[in-house]
Amino acid sequence: MDLKLKGRRALVTGSSSGIGEAIARMLAQEGCAVVVHGRNRERAGKIAAEIKAAGVAIGDLSTDDGAASVHAEARAALGGNIEILINNAGGSATGNSSRAPVEISADDWIKNYHANALAAVRLCRLAVPDMVAAKFGRVIQVSSAVAVQPNNMGADYSGAKAALNNFTVSLAGSLKGVGVTVNTLSPGVIMVDGMIRWGRHRYGDDQLSIEEITRRMAADKIFDLPPAGRLGTPEDLALVACMLASPLSGFITGANYRVDGGQIRSLN
Ligand SMILES: NC(=O)c1ccc[n+]([C@@H]2O[C@H](COP(=O)([O-])OP(=O)(O)OC[C@H]3O[C@@H](n4cnc5c(N)ncnc54)[C@H](OP(=O)(O)O)[C@@H]3O)[C@@H](O)[C@H]2O)c1
Repeated sequence: MDLKLKGRRALVTGSSSGIGEAIARMLAQEGCAVVVHGRNRERAGKIAAEIKAAGVAIGDLSTDDGAASVHAEARAALGGNIEILINNAGGSATGNSSRAPVEISADDWIKNYHANALAAVRLCRLAVPDMVAAKFGRVIQVSSAVAVQPNNMGADYSGAKAALNNFTVSLAGSLKGVGVTVNTLSPGVIMVDGMIRWGRHRYGDDQLSIEEITRRMAADKIFDLPPAGRLGTPEDLALVACMLASPLSGFITGANYRVDGGQIRSLN
């Protein structure tokens, strides 16, 4: 199926690794001009060269200045406005998602709010007005399954992702009939390189396969294996991102797409 993505201009935040990298790769394969983003120019440049991206945009999206320079660099590399904005950058901003709610300081809540909610808000504020003027735009927010079904631990991260889901519905609702859609993509547990490295380290074997890491983590009750019978891959997310980015997806907005192998027990 031709998703009609050829020649569309896309910025994928946090595409120097993991889910963002897979989304950037698949959008580039579909013919988009893609800008790769991260905080490290060398890491982002390596991915950009591999996927023949239009360029890179570097900056910390936890700050207004960082987001403004990412937006400007992306626009310059694309030679025009951002038509597809994938707000994927994020993750635990404190590196500690195993604390009980009362152990998490207010400062750590704020760090996660900046990295996982306001990063997307900042870029939407910069990029959406151009989309509205051009009467076309696609915004895809990479949230998390824990936004709607939080764990007991890591409430600062899941709470920030819940705010992102909420913002998405407000933004979608405010953009009536202007050709701009806004949706959330909610991954379950996805085996990105960082997760594979963590698993190999935990079990003291740097050759351990993804299947074996998954089996041991499930046996250790780190998570329940979802109905799909495996954990996700970054490509599982990229597939849905490409569908939502397509000009053919104009009737899908304000939605939350779960890509979690059936992990979340919910009717929507
Ligand atoms: N993997 C999972 O199981 C899972 C599950 C649910 C949700 N998610 C969400 O999926 C998204 C991608 O995660 P991932 O697992 O693919 O992680 P990852 O491999 O660690 O990639 C994270 C990316 O985000 C960038 N980034 C993080 N914080 C940033 C900031 N403040 N400013 C600019 N860039 C920033 C990183 O850039 P640098 O290169 O500079 O570090 C990197 O490119 C995140 O939003 C995460 O919350 C992941």
